[in-house]
Amino acid sequence: MAKTVLVTGGAGYIGSHTVLQLLLAGFKAVVVDNLENSSEVAIKRVAELAGEFGKNIIFHKIDIRDKEALEKVFASTTFDAVIHFAGLKAVGESVHKPLLYYNNNIIGTINLLEVMSAHGCKKLVFSSSATVYGWPKEVPCTEEFDLSATNPYGRTKLFIEEICRDIHISDPDWSIILLRYFNPVGAHPSGHIGEDPRGFPNNLMPFVQQVAVGRRPALTVFGNDYSTKDGTGVRDYIHVVDLSDGHISALQKLFDGSEIGCEVYNLGTGKGTSVLEMVAAFEKASGKEIPLVIAGRRPGDAEIVYASTAKAEKELHWKAKYGIEEMCRDQWNWASMNPWGYGCPDPAD
Ligand SMILES: NC(=O)c1ccc[n+]([C@@H]2O[C@H](COP(=O)([O-])OP(=O)(O)OC[C@H]3O[C@@H](n4cnc5c(N)ncnc54)[C@H](O)[C@@H]3O)[C@@H](O)[C@H]2O)c1
Ligand SMILES: *[C@@H]1O[C@H](CO)[C@@H](O)[C@H](O)[C@H]1NC(C)=O
Repeated sequence: MAKTVLVTGGAGYIGSHTVLQLLLAGFKAVVVDNLENSSEVAIKRVAELAGEFGKNIIFHKIDIRDKEALEKVFASTTFDAVIHFAGLKAVGESVHKPLLYYNNNIIGTINLLEVMSAHGCKKLVFSSSATVYGWPKEVPCTEEFDLSATNPYGRTKLFIEEICRDIHISDPDWSIILLRYFNPVGAHPSGHIGEDPRGFPNNLMPFVQQVAVGRRPALTVFGNDYSTKDGTGVRDYIHVVDLSDGHISALQKLFDGSEIGCEVYNLGTGKGTSVLEMVAAFEKASGKEIPLVIAGRRPGDAEIVYASTAKAEKELHWKAKYGIEEMCRDQWNWASMNPWGYGCPDPAD
């Protein structure tokens, strides 16, 4: 019997890629998303890419803070597990609008957990972030590191992790996997789904992408005086398809009958790449020159962050397959096919 998974935020960047992998793996997916930061076009494209499995996706435009609406979804379908992506993630905006972030991310999650509990669905995979390592004292980051947050967005991730640990202590029927993502980039190799470049990008690759398609004149590099190989910040970039596959491995762990409790896993490649190395890889993949403007360090940015991948490899039997060449190739393929994201018609339509 095919298992049915509720995916919150499933129209978003990581959610859409994960829903596709879920469908291809034979799961049924019910997506709830308020489309605050995404487009229903992504759902349509996922269904097309899934071929014969495309019929196994249902979409509801719902805000997870709307308890009545969530109740209805749970009343109509029995879920074997939930993957919870829905949330706001713009770090800078979270500094200016902390209540919006606490309201959306934390109240939304509490609502979801209450409805899950009421319906006896106690298996959860949650999107946490490497941001909970704050400024790590050393690398690679292992799951046992001390946790801290440097902004309200990061605090929402930290608090939700703690809430999950507490509910598991209170009720051992819960099985929860917290996935700490490093830096997801790239797109599905088809070029039909990817990161919709809305607003002013916070992250490196959406910015690079906007420069490459001529929407911005130059890339601003924040800091070139860090003690790294070339002075620019080092991060662990992970192909979004690898990241999505990590969720399938986490689900399999939830379903394999083992006592999980509340466990946390890093999803990264274990490799550190500097801003300049990433830009060079993107220039090579796209054949475009990315003009740079060097600016001062951005407050809150850590110098060097990359993952220890040992725990996920051992316990989830998952390991990233792709390197930065594939990430840049697929990012460019998506960007050049959809320079305005889902805002204009797909050339293949
Ligand atoms: N992209 C990253 O760099 C990164 C890194 C670490 C963790 N994460 C986390 O992964 C998750 C997914 O990130 P993403 O990059 O796909 O972002 P995204 O903005 O593309 O996706 C989030 C989705 O959630 C939806 N959403 C937001 N609030 C909602 C609400 N109250 N009710 C219903 N839907 C709501 C949005 O419309 C969007 O479709 C987020 O929780 C994010 O914090 C992302
Ligand atoms: C919306 O998504 C874009 C693309 O992933 C991202 O840059 C932006 O931070 C997101 N906005 C919010 C409020 O989460």
